[in-house]
Parts: sequence; structure tokens; C-alpha cells
Amino acid sequence: MDTTNICNHIAIIMDGNGRWAKKRGMPRTYGHKKGAENVVKITRSMKESGVKYLTLYAFSTENWQRSKDEVDALMQLLNEYLDKELKEIMENNVRIIFIGERYMLSEDIQKKMLYLEQESAKNTDLTLCIALSYGSRQEILSAVKSIATKVKNDELKVEDITQESFSNELYTKGIPDPDILIRTSGEQRISNYLLWQIAYTELFFTNTLWPDFGKDELWDIIKKFSSRERRYGKN
Ligand code: IPE
Ligand code: IPE
Ligand code: MG
Repeated sequence: MDTTNICNHIAIIMDGNGRWAKKRGMPRTYGHKKGAENVVKITRSMKESGVKYLTLYAFSTENWQRSKDEVDALMQLLNEYLDKELKEIMENNVRIIFIGERYMLSEDIQKKMLYLEQESAKNTDLTLCIALSYGSRQEILSAVKSIATKVKNDELKVEDITQESFSNELYTKGIPDPDILIRTSGEQRISNYLLWQIAYTELFFTNTLWPDFGKDELWDIIKKFSSRERRYGKN
């Protein structure tokens, strides 16, 4: 019997940019800049791995509570990333999608996100899903509200609410659940990320800070995953 697990979807909590910069006596925003550069590198190496979905936690709903200076710097970096990314994703046949509370982002950023999604919609090698202004509890609540409204309007019967129909109300509709979740920087918590979707995901925590997380470590995790004994989560 072949017990090798195939990894179809990796989700990453890209943590540790601030500490990475602090260690070098640099401002936190320098760490975010290096972190953004690493997003491009890791996305490229993902293509070679055969993984079809990569979901990256770039900015949480809780991250809005950081200082105005830091939030502004992150939004500026995001803006630059969105401007540069089209060429990169088209050359690499990557489809990009965004999940999260979009209305909290500036109109300019929202427009760029939509443009990238539309332009790359037919690309097939990798789906890059970026969680921006994302919070899993908010996502679940908005699914509950949508379902409750359908029931109230007699469009849906209570007995027809299933795990599948619920999943279809989430931002991640149509995306399979992650096989692997990686969190960098040594923290061992989920921080409001994909709570419903990771029910049977295999978890990996590494002390490496996000800007230093590279291809070798990624390969190593995929290899370890392939020989883990999985429960229920298998695609
Ligand atoms: C992750 O790095 C990036 C974001 C949350 C935007 P942090 O900014 O959380 O860095 P640390 O955890 O303070 O080192
Ligand atoms: C989680 O990291 C969010 C992102 C990586 C975007 P945080 O650094 O914000 O999480 P906490 O505050 O340590 O839980
Ligand atoms: Mg952090």
C-alpha cells in the first residue's frame, strides 16, 4: 500500500518580520520589505514542488490595531507588491485570489486586487491565495449571516445546511482545505487563520523568521509531511 501523502495545498502564517529587523538593528518596516521579497521567492519555488494552492497570511484583521506608521508602511508595501505582481504571475501561470475583509482596504488597493484577480483568472499552474485584512472568525460569522438570511427568505431549509454548503459561504469557496499549515518565527498559535479549513491539516512550526524561510526548509517540510500518518484530511 502506498502511504505517501501528496500535498495539494500549503497555508503559511508568515510571522517574524519585526524580530528579523530588530536583530539587525533595523526598523520593523525593513523586515516587512524583506518579508514581501520572500513572498515572491517562495511562490516561485512552490511552482516546482507540484503544490497547486498556496495560501499566505499577509495581514490579519487584528493587525489593523498596530501603530498607524506600521500599518501605513505595510499598505505602501502592499501597493508596490500589487503593481509589480502582474508580470510575475502571468509569466509563471499563477492565478491570484484574495480573501479577507476587503472593504477595510483603500479603494485604490481594492481596485488593484480585483484587476490582478481578473487578469490571472485563467492561469493554471498554481493558485496563490493571499489573506489580507483576514480574520477567520469574521469569515465564519459572515457565512452564518448569509445562511441565516437565506433561511429567513425561504431560499434554504435548515436541514439542508451541510458542511459542504457552509464551506461554500466562506471566502475560500472552491479551494480545497490545506494539507500543511506552516507558522514561522516560533509562535505556536493560529492567530485567527482558517479555523474551519484546518480541521485536519498537518501543522508545522519552525523557529525560522519569515524573511529567512527558504526553499530548503520548505522541501524538508513537504518531505516530512509525505510520511506522516494522516487522519481524515486526505484529498
Ligand atoms: C509578520 O511579522 C507580518 C505581519 C503580521 C504583517 P510581524 O510583524 O508579526 O513580526 P514579529 O512577529 O513582530 O516579529
Ligand atoms: C499573524 O501574525 C498574522 C500574519 C502573519 C499576517 P501576528 O504576528 O499578527 O500574530 P500574533 O499577534 O503574534 O498572534
Ligand atoms: Mg508577529
